[in-house]
Amino acid sequence: MIYPIITAEEAVLSIKNGDTVGIGGFSSVGTPKAVPAALAVYAEQLHNEGKEFKVGLITGGATGNQVDSALAKAHAVTFRTPFQSNKDMRNAINSGEVQYFDVHLSQISQDVRYGFLGDIDVAIVEASDITPEGKLILSTSVGISPTLVKVAKKVIVELNEAHTGKLTGMHDIFIPETPPYRTELPIYRVNDRVGSISVKVDPKKVVGVVKTNERDNIAAFTPLNETTKQIGWNVAGFLEKEWTRGAIPKEFLPLQSGVGNIANAVLGALGSEKKLPAFSMFTEVIQNSVIDLMLDGRINYVAGSSLTLSDDKLDLMYDHIDDLGKRVILRPQETTNHPEIIRRLGIIAVNTALEADIFGNVNSTHVLGSKMMNGIGGSGDFTRNAYLSIFTTPSTAKDGLISSIVPQVSHVDSTEHDVRIIVTEQGVADLRGKSPSQRARCIIENCAHPDYKELLWDYLKLSEGKSCHTPMSLKNAFKMHIAFAETGDMKNVKFE
Ligand code: COA
Repeated sequence: MIYPIITAEEAVLSIKNGDTVGIGGFSSVGTPKAVPAALAVYAEQLHNEGKEFKVGLITGGATGNQVDSALAKAHAVTFRTPFQSNKDMRNAINSGEVQYFDVHLSQISQDVRYGFLGDIDVAIVEASDITPEGKLILSTSVGISPTLVKVAKKVIVELNEAHTGKLTGMHDIFIPETPPYRTELPIYRVNDRVGSISVKVDPKKVVGVVKTNERDNIAAFTPLNETTKQIGWNVAGFLEKEWTRGAIPKEFLPLQSGVGNIANAVLGALGSEKKLPAFSMFTEVIQNSVIDLMLDGRINYVAGSSLTLSDDKLDLMYDHIDDLGKRVILRPQETTNHPEIIRRLGIIAVNTALEADIFGNVNSTHVLGSKMMNGIGGSGDFTRNAYLSIFTTPSTAKDGLISSIVPQVSHVDSTEHDVRIIVTEQGVADLRGKSPSQRARCIIENCAHPDYKELLWDYLKLSEGKSCHTPMSLKNAFKMHIAFAETGDMKNVKFE
């Protein structure tokens, strides 16, 4: 080992109050564990001594509890970017304690390299191996770690021996040049490799290596319910029809799918739709169902930025590593979500909305326009550039008290110009080639829950009488949201 072995407690002494800390990991995996946890303890100790200690936090996306939960609970964070999905961090963001700014996941690495976010004082990344020359083989994710290691003034490495010797060769690390010298990213098929399997680090910057031996502890998914299953079948049925009529090439196209139960249901339905050919995935997150579908021969190749797998699925992948090691590629999120490649490969993108409006605008992030849920993640990267962009959502939330189809979304993440298809358990709205008023009819008819259909028709008819190209009513657009905020039920609405 060419770097000093140190403890997590020794490592955190290199982090100072006011530093910007870049933490590796993506979609809750491959995140350093011991050093962030020790950092939270260190911050609390300093606070107890009456000293100030807070850092800015830049990550690839969602981290583990050891990062977002521990540091939020320790009141040790000034700002945080990008995507997070942790309850404690979410509360700190929504209370205003942590300044959070949400960035498309494809952009965060280049924002860091361009200097938009200032200096990165310390990078903390997880590796599964360190080569004799000192290069890092990352672990279960890549995220923005290569950029963090490149630009940070100091680097702390966690060597996670739970994965040692198992992941070597699966990563494909590439950092584009900065404009005006940037060239194309030469990925023409999902499984094209363009980079190296390891990350080079300047040995002079390495503070030390902290050894750990801990899995990512990803929970298995909760079983699908009737709603998520039906959404999955609706997406699969729609894609099958598109393929049959020739609007999707006969070889099919690579799929991107978000994370969570709906994404799982969509993948399950597509996997068992045997009329469709086996397909590949060009995606962000590789989740449990992908491994099963690869072993079943339904998925050929998958490229993503993280192996967000429960322990049993990771073991299954390791058991079949001779086969899957060649078919699974782990890349920086800058590559997995790259607009150029998404457009070139013709990705079919499937993401989940909190709410969609009758014109096709989608809110993925803010409950009632104000409360941050997780962040836009990669949904915007994929939606804007996809061959076919699909948003799924159950037609209602909170036991039917909220309609996910509303007159106007309370916050916009993906616009009506980018969203092509909306799918709920009620059906599919194909928005291509339709004007705002035609889209409104299509979405209400096909996607709204029966309990809300009449209300939405009322809104549309009332607005059509009083507006121009887009039938919206400024007076009534948010009345359903206001009814929920004031009475706890969106149905208690009176349009004027
Ligand atoms: N208004 C208010 N609350 C709503 C809502 C709405 N219209 N729709 C859903 N919710 C609530 C649910 O009730 C649930 O609340 P709970 O946590 O108190 O139970 C919560 O939001 C999450 O909803 P759920 O149905 O469990 O959705 P999910 O786990 O599938 O997540 C998103 C949905 C939109 C939050 C999630 O997909 C996300 O963060 N997306 C943005 C990032 C992204 O798309 N990433 C993938 C790109 S590769």
